Amino acid sequence: MKGLAFNSSPRKNNGATDMVLNKFLEGIKDAGGDFEKIYLNDKKINQCRGCFGCWTKTPGKCVFQNDDMPEILKKLEEADIIIYATPLYHFNMTSYMKIMIEKTLPLLEPFLIKDKELTTHPRRNKKKKAKWVIISVCGFPEIEHFQALDLCFKQNARAHGAEIIGKIYRPSSEVLKSGAPLFKAYLKNCYLAGKEVIENGKIKEETQRKLYKDFIMPKFLFRFMANRFWKKQIQ
Ligand SMILES: Cc1cc2nc3c(=O)[nH]c(=O)nc-3n(C[C@H](O)[C@H](O)[C@H](O)COP(=O)(O)O)c2cc1C
Repeated sequence: MKGLAFNSSPRKNNGATDMVLNKFLEGIKDAGGDFEKIYLNDKKINQCRGCFGCWTKTPGKCVFQNDDMPEILKKLEEADIIIYATPLYHFNMTSYMKIMIEKTLPLLEPFLIKDKELTTHPRRNKKKKAKWVIISVCGFPEIEHFQALDLCFKQNARAHGAEIIGKIYRPSSEVLKSGAPLFKAYLKNCYLAGKEVIENGKIKEETQRKLYKDFIMPKFLFRFMANRFWKKQIQ
């Protein structure tokens, strides 16, 4: 079982995304899974120019081969499990991840086909059905902030014929970074989720439920403490 994990936080291993992702990957590793982690802001990925050359002039390949994307596309094609880990920026993934995902257009063909009640593009590689895991963290304390990101990944997974086998959405991410003991049990569940993905093929419903559970202090107290923190930073 080959796993490929992307972390699109510009804070890389100093961020909350990596804390959650690392625990999850630890679980994958202990269950015998093999994975590679890529920090997207270490990579040179030029923006899509919208020329559709990857569909016409050089089918399956971007016409510009001068960045790290050809290597990433190869890894994406080989991976059984793809983990997209991103901080929430303005209700969605960070630009590092968005630019990378836009550059996966060569994996699709230009033609329009029917997929249930919607129109989509056929995939070039019809044999493989990848499994995706989505991980995201955000500063605000409510899980509702992930709604747009969740829908965005759902639509992208459909377009790439992938199955989403688990989601870890962690609000109040900056508290997680504080190392508060409150989060120990949470991180244990992230580890368990990684193990289950290998041993069970997906995150079990019970673990998924625990990961969604809101265990943070009352929201007014959270806002009060966060505001106190920011006031201190400004002074
Ligand atoms: C440009 C920017 C946009 C952000 N947008 C949101 C947002 O829409 N909702 C939210 O709750 N937090 C938002 N945050 C907070 C981050 O999600 C939070 O700090 C998170 O911990 C960052 O992940 P990292 O620690 O892995 O870098 C934003 C932060 C930045 C820098």
